[in-house]
Amino acid sequence: MRAARDAALPGAVARALPLLDPAARPAEPDVAHGYLDLLDGAADAATGATQRLMLSRALPVVYDRWWRPAWGRVLKGPLGGGMRDEHRIARLLLGLTPGDGVLDVACGPGSFTREFAHVVGDAGLAVGIDVSATMLARAVAETAPGTVAYVRGDAVALPFRDASFDAVCCFAALHLFADPDLALDHMTRVLTPGGRIAILTSCRLRSAAGRAAGDLAGAQSGMRVFGPDEIVEGLERRGYAEVRQRIAGLAQFVGGRLAA
Ligand SMILES: C[S@@+](CC[C@H](N)C(=O)[O-])C[C@H]1O[C@@H](n2cnc3c(N)ncnc32)[C@H](O)[C@@H]1O
Repeated sequence: MRAARDAALPGAVARALPLLDPAARPAEPDVAHGYLDLLDGAADAATGATQRLMLSRALPVVYDRWWRPAWGRVLKGPLGGGMRDEHRIARLLLGLTPGDGVLDVACGPGSFTREFAHVVGDAGLAVGIDVSATMLARAVAETAPGTVAYVRGDAVALPFRDASFDAVCCFAALHLFADPDLALDHMTRVLTPGGRIAILTSCRLRSAAGRAAGDLAGAQSGMRVFGPDEIVEGLERRGYAEVRQRIAGLAQFVGGRLAA
């Protein structure tokens, strides 16, 4: 009965269901909006002003074209590279190959997730998870049907089984989460041994003035501003090897491979 119902779901969503933690798997999957809604229609809770924008109807419409490139420029500075460079770094850090399973945490409107789906191909699976219904609606509208499984859920309590993905990406979002450390624990938990992680997040300057400015900016925006060593050390503590970091202005890219 359940098998017949699952087979009727959009292609990638049906393939993602077995990756769900049994406790998170709904008896009647809600895919009415083209993504699997695990928040049961609950209202989105915002962690601050920036996340409130992510939940709005307006931002997803201008996000890929205007908002995201502009914010990237502000954070990374004039020499920090554009969106094309970010996609290149994500590909490099994740080292995806056809057949891989990849999770895009806080996927927003899915521009990275779609690219990952293209790389892993039909033999692999790309899953994008985000808490914002409006971002996911945009992602679904922009994605060829059945190629990506989008899930509405919380990055701080990832609803997937242990060791269910070969790679996990979290770009431009860790600083928005209510508990970034717990989110990193979950990302690590769902990775297979030897799996790769790629993170793009905030980075404050090393000076005392930089720390003060970071604290102020964080308080105004509701975003956490991470120290320059915080994410690297956080990954090493969780058992990642080959941890690499590139700092660009007030942003940092960090990648690593979970010990096998
Ligand atoms: C700036 S966007 C980043 C989107 C995409 N990763 C990118 O690089 O363009 C941040 C995303 O994080 C999502 N987000 C924030 N808190 C979240 C949480 N606790 N769980 C899942 N998604 C969350 C927001 O809804 C938003 O779509």
